[in-house]
Amino acid sequence: MSLPRLADMHARGEKIAMLTAYDATFAAIADAAGVDCILVGDSLGMVCQGLASTVAVDLAHMRYHTESVARGLARVQGTAWLIGDLPFGTYHESREQALRSAAVLMQAGAHMVKLEGGGWTAATVEFLVQRGVPVCAHLGLTPQTVHSLGGYRVQGKGEAAGALLKQQAHALQDAGAAMLVLEMVPAALAAELTTELTHCATIGIGAGCGTAGQVLVMHDMLGLNLGRMARFVHNFLADAPGVQEAMISYVQAVKTGSFPDDSRHAW
Ligand code: KIV
Repeated sequence: MSLPRLADMHARGEKIAMLTAYDATFAAIADAAGVDCILVGDSLGMVCQGLASTVAVDLAHMRYHTESVARGLARVQGTAWLIGDLPFGTYHESREQALRSAAVLMQAGAHMVKLEGGGWTAATVEFLVQRGVPVCAHLGLTPQTVHSLGGYRVQGKGEAAGALLKQQAHALQDAGAAMLVLEMVPAALAAELTTELTHCATIGIGAGCGTAGQVLVMHDMLGLNLGRMARFVHNFLADAPGVQEAMISYVQAVKTGSFPDDSRHAW
């Protein structure tokens, strides 16, 4: 996988299937299942470390897990595009701090970094992209700012909030973001944005079936969760004999557009 190949998939309307992974074995299985992009998400704070939010995840944690995933992919000559999440506080101070943090994840094996938020992040994205760091942006429910948002709830609802989210998304595309995760936003808004953003592939999670691709946290799609399963999650292991088959089924469902089902998984 490469940035031009992802851009080509986006242009042709082939849906991009993304999953999180945090270790070598699951990364290799996801790659063998045909997952296009693996995200080493800071969700590892919740699913691996047992934290209540992603806020306490730091760059050393992200480096460790990114290296593990990269080694897993190398062991099986995997081809998935590897995205490393920049954790809270590692890109907020300055564009220079963001570049230093991005370099740590790129040197650990990431092909792209992801960062959360809109508005001020556009200048950071532009700075990174100009210096050869591919960037995936993230709008809507941004878990690193859960305390400011007042909880894990749908974002971009209503005319003003929707317009602001759209404006931020366009600014991120203009800054050079090649992908944009849209988390827990109304399906209609995500679909409109997907049509408008011709140079930035939208990747939905709780954003309906109209996005250019989908992402789920691996534990969630295997039905492994310490708390309540979010509405946008489907347990692909429930109808599969094993983990790899569940991931194959996820990839097929994303590619054919049968997941997500807006009547069950969206707002
Ligand atoms: O950290 C993560 O896993 C994420 C996805 C939920 C998009 O940001």
